[in-house]
Amino acid sequence: MRSILSVKAAAVLATCISTSTASAQDVEVLHWWTSGGEAAALSVLREDLSESGYGWVDMPVAGGGGSDAMTVLRARVTAGNPPTAVQMLGFAIQDWAKEGALSNLNDLANEQNWSTVVPSALQAFSTYSANWVAAPVNVHSTNWVWANSKIMAELGIEQPTSWESFIAAMQAAKDAGYTALAHGGQAWQEATVFDSVAMGVGGPAFYKAAFIDLDSDALGGAQMVEAFERMETLRGFVDENFSGRDWNLATAMVINGEALFQIMGDWAKGEFVNAGQTAGEEFKCFRVPGSDGTVTFNSDQFAMFKVEGSAAEAQLAMASAVMSPEFQVAFNIVKGSVPARTDISDEEFDACGKLGMAQLAQAAASGNLFGSMAHGHANTPSIQNAMYDVITAHFNGEYDAATAAAELVTAVELAK
Ligand code: GAL
Repeated sequence: MRSILSVKAAAVLATCISTSTASAQDVEVLHWWTSGGEAAALSVLREDLSESGYGWVDMPVAGGGGSDAMTVLRARVTAGNPPTAVQMLGFAIQDWAKEGALSNLNDLANEQNWSTVVPSALQAFSTYSANWVAAPVNVHSTNWVWANSKIMAELGIEQPTSWESFIAAMQAAKDAGYTALAHGGQAWQEATVFDSVAMGVGGPAFYKAAFIDLDSDALGGAQMVEAFERMETLRGFVDENFSGRDWNLATAMVINGEALFQIMGDWAKGEFVNAGQTAGEEFKCFRVPGSDGTVTFNSDQFAMFKVEGSAAEAQLAMASAVMSPEFQVAFNIVKGSVPARTDISDEEFDACGKLGMAQLAQAAASGNLFGSMAHGHANTPSIQNAMYDVITAHFNGEYDAATAAAELVTAVELAK
């Protein structure tokens, strides 16, 4: 089964569940890695497993951020036929573990000492009630800008170090006829941008109070209003065809020299690499101005659903492959993320990968590492979706900044 599914196809899927094609030595993997860079990274895992004698049944569900994949997953589990392994983020893993749906990976985890090599910020999501239920593949972070070096050089743009110089750079690109900010108008992408914008306005204490602690004063206060105002400024720099565009097509605009910047997680780097471009040469990466020193992270993990017999054996083989140091290097240099283990050298990583690894370690050590609101690591999926609705409605002009901040408080209250 190799077709790419949309949510609309979920109903069709539900009818074909009883005829799943996975055999005992196969792993059936549900994921949303469908862009060029993502697919290239996934093939690293597929090849690793194939060398160990395990087949791969692919279950891709397009849609960045994974909301559509989670809808399809619910249909599969409800029908009593969960996939072997599922790409999953943060609080969603905890939700499924709470339902008792996930396998216990403790034997393998103990044998391979996962608890000493996986950072505690990730273990908080990979374990439930002290049991390992998922294997972390990577650490992504969302507060990055991806920039076209040629446009920067042509317009004499230096790497912006403040919000003001960031805006001035985009104004220069707009005046020169370029798209200043490549963006795809989808709720999860707007939320991804909002992660860094909010951090830039209010800093770590505000980010934590609003998105993690759900403090109403932070959610509805002056800093949140300012964050929404900054989103309005950014809205003025996107092209008129932004609506509905997939994130990787927005990245392609920077790759092709149509657009100056994109604010996106470091999965975007996978697209540049897949297009044959090199970090520090054709493209540059830097933290969204104002969010320097902080990292808003998300970690893709493979959650393992309870399966029987030899399927469980295949599952352990996959978890073991995912956690191997060699795999963590080979996969993450293609994916744009950094390893989920702390014992891995940055030697084989490019300039952006090295920077990402160093900044992740610094942010963790200085208390400036926070789970991404946009990517399921700050709060439960229902709160996350409530925030998405307000952020995207505001970006599309339904609310002014003050109304959006007030709506955020209400939406979060209702979702609690
Ligand atoms: C994120 C995920 C990344 C990447 C991105 C866009 O949620 O963690 O691995 O796939 O979505 O699809």
